[in-house]
Amino acid sequence: MGRCYLPHNCRATTEHYLRHAPASPLIVLGIESSCDDTAAAVLRDTGDGPADILSNQVYGQTDLHAAFGGVVPEIAARAHAEKLDVMVEAALSEARVAIQDIDAIAVTAGPGLIGGVMSGVMCAKGLAAGSGKPLIGVNHLAGHALTPRLTDGLAFPYLMLLVSGGHCQFLVVRSATRFERLGGTIDDAPGEAFDKTAKLLGLSQPGGPAIEKAAIQGDPTRFALPRPLLDRPGCDMSFSGLKTAVLRARDALIDRQGGLTRQDQSDLAAGFQAAVTDVLAVKTRRALQLAEVPAFAVAGGVAANSAIRQALRREADEAGASFAAPPLALCTDNAAMIAWVGIERFRLGLLDDLTLAARPRWPLDPDARPMLGSGKKGAKA
Ligand code: KG4
Ligand code: ZN
Repeated sequence: MGRCYLPHNCRATTEHYLRHAPASPLIVLGIESSCDDTAAAVLRDTGDGPADILSNQVYGQTDLHAAFGGVVPEIAARAHAEKLDVMVEAALSEARVAIQDIDAIAVTAGPGLIGGVMSGVMCAKGLAAGSGKPLIGVNHLAGHALTPRLTDGLAFPYLMLLVSGGHCQFLVVRSATRFERLGGTIDDAPGEAFDKTAKLLGLSQPGGPAIEKAAIQGDPTRFALPRPLLDRPGCDMSFSGLKTAVLRARDALIDRQGGLTRQDQSDLAAGFQAAVTDVLAVKTRRALQLAEVPAFAVAGGVAANSAIRQALRREADEAGASFAAPPLALCTDNAAMIAWVGIERFRLGLLDDLTLAARPRWPLDPDARPMLGSGKKGAKA
């Protein structure tokens, strides 16, 4: 049991807040800094209907890392440390609340790039210690996985597919604290594969939108690209071989004709996108069969791709499950999702104290096999 930070120094933090904190409404500040976005948000939840997002501030670091071809952990950590207080102030001010009006401070405590996670946790601890408000450590992946409850009021249980530049996994979300991982990528995340493929086709970054645009004019059947791991049972996926297959096809064209035409670029982009779509669709079908749940939700930047989104929606329809895809600003990294997990945990009495640790790895499902690789944007689980 933790220690309460209020002046009277009650020793039973969880019990104390359950007993004394207002049942509703709750106002929670969320802080996120596990990758390359410094974010702070304030949510108010009355416990009756959807929570209000009073503010949702995100400072993206893309420009700081652009020259290096990936997120540089030291640069990210330094930028988070410099920007966190600014973002918290901006979030409080946009929400028109003072720190005294907040019921709890929720912060991403992992998984992610450890320097960034530590910056956020230290910032949140400082705020908690200074204001006497309770602290709630949040798993970043739980933030993504519970977002459909904030945006669509989804009831437990449901199947979740996280597909972004750093994540790729199927989770059965049974409660705010129980997640079952059915499978995930064994190498690159799909967004990472989109980015690398765009780079080798000479398209701009981020690669996802660039490939989607180029693919519109392309013939997805011109190049025979693989659908990795479809021949293997289960829900694990692999995307790095697909990227290598595009590289080989590109090099063969360059050898033959000295370069790529715009049509070649479009055909390769379309072929790659179709292969990723097929893999995600087939694995979703299997996951829906295994999960036997009434709803399916997606999150992550790759879910912005309309071909992928359509294919996933079709799979949900065919399985008789409802489909939820939160708006993009809440699908990608943000602090509103962290504040939302804070609200869910607060209502369960799950508070932390100043001993909260930053964790580079923190699987949502402790019983699942560890995922391979650390990923371009930090640990995958
Ligand atoms: O969720 P997100 O903003 O950040 C993290 O990875 O945490 O996802 C970014 C990834 C990038 O790799 C980007 O290329 C990909 O999502 N992405 C897309 C699209 N828009 C963004 N991939 C495919 N199609 C898109 N339209
Ligand atoms: Zn994320």
